[in-house]
Amino acid sequence: MTLHFSRQGEDEIVGYRVKEASPMAERIYQIWIEAPHVARNARAGQFLVIRIDEKGERIPLTISAVKGDLVRVIFMAVGKTTYQLATLVAGDEIRDVAGPLGKPSEIGHFGHCVIVGGGAGIACCPIIARAAKAAGNRVTGIIGARSAGFLILEEEMGETCDELFVATDDGTKGHHGFAADVLKQVIGKERPDRVWIIGPAIMMKVTSEVTRAAGIPTLVSLNPIMVDGTGMCGSCRVVVGGETRFACVDGPEFDAHKVDFDTLMARQKTYLEEEKLALERFSSHRCGCGGRDHHG
Ligand SMILES: Cc1cc2nc3c(=O)[nH]c(=O)nc-3n(C[C@H](O)[C@H](O)[C@H](O)COP(=O)(O)OP(=O)(O)OC[C@H]3O[C@@H](n4cnc5c(N)ncnc54)[C@H](O)[C@@H]3O)c2cc1C
Ligand code: FES
Repeated sequence: MTLHFSRQGEDEIVGYRVKEASPMAERIYQIWIEAPHVARNARAGQFLVIRIDEKGERIPLTISAVKGDLVRVIFMAVGKTTYQLATLVAGDEIRDVAGPLGKPSEIGHFGHCVIVGGGAGIACCPIIARAAKAAGNRVTGIIGARSAGFLILEEEMGETCDELFVATDDGTKGHHGFAADVLKQVIGKERPDRVWIIGPAIMMKVTSEVTRAAGIPTLVSLNPIMVDGTGMCGSCRVVVGGETRFACVDGPEFDAHKVDFDTLMARQKTYLEEEKLALERFSSHRCGCGGRDHHG
């Protein structure tokens, strides 16, 4: 594992340069960060822990793509730190970038792989699809969002996968309904050998019931609250097969059919009140800085 936190310049700590930053869909943004050591070692399924500045909290984000010295993260603005991240522009710096963290996806020559992404979880799909293709698999992609305005990476997934299906809850694009419905149809035509499901916990829970019934090996990428990302703090505890595991070092990918999703969802809500307060404080800045300059 390679970890890189703040970089040491001649006189001061220098951060990680944002090379590109742009909105992709409603409340979803992408950022390309210059982090050569991370880019060199990153593999599908791994993540970064970033801290925007010295006062910021650490948040985990999946490595969505790598290009030369750059790594891409794609995130949905849901709270204080992700809204703050959305204000960054090319040329800004991120104070700390630690990674690549977590175990890489288990990619092998399985035959037919299906990769299902929901909402911001679609961010993780192209890098896994590419790795699965490179290992000689036939790859089917299924991406779903609540509405067409929230869909991301359709073109990139279309170029990478042998076949791509789109679903929206409100029917504004593709299948009218859930990615789980499309997965059922795909299984009905050609039984996959391996399935990945990545998205909100409830979506992973419901969708993995489809493959449980069909007895298809299925992996999910779990998103509990993480702090250090290195197995030290215990905040990312999840229950898998009745045992406690740390998602940051034992995962984030686990056997979907062994995960206790109800415990995961309950633990994700631990700090709801504090998160609400932090966002309110961040949003109340009246000086036009968007909270970038001072955001206690
Ligand atoms: C391994 C991993 C990879 C992830 N990859 C992505 C990604 O690629 N794109 C993306 O949009 N989101 C991703 N997430 C979720 C992302 O980390 C949270 O959305 C983010 O931390 C929210 O922070 P906030 O301050 O903006 O929101 P807050 O208001 O602080 O929290 C909003 C919700 O986000 C979750 N959350 C808050 N803090 C953390 C934390 N430190 N760690 C994990 N979850 C937290 C909680 O469920 C919380 O209720 C990932 C999570 C994990 C564990
Ligand atoms: S995030 Fe601290 S142990 Fe996993």
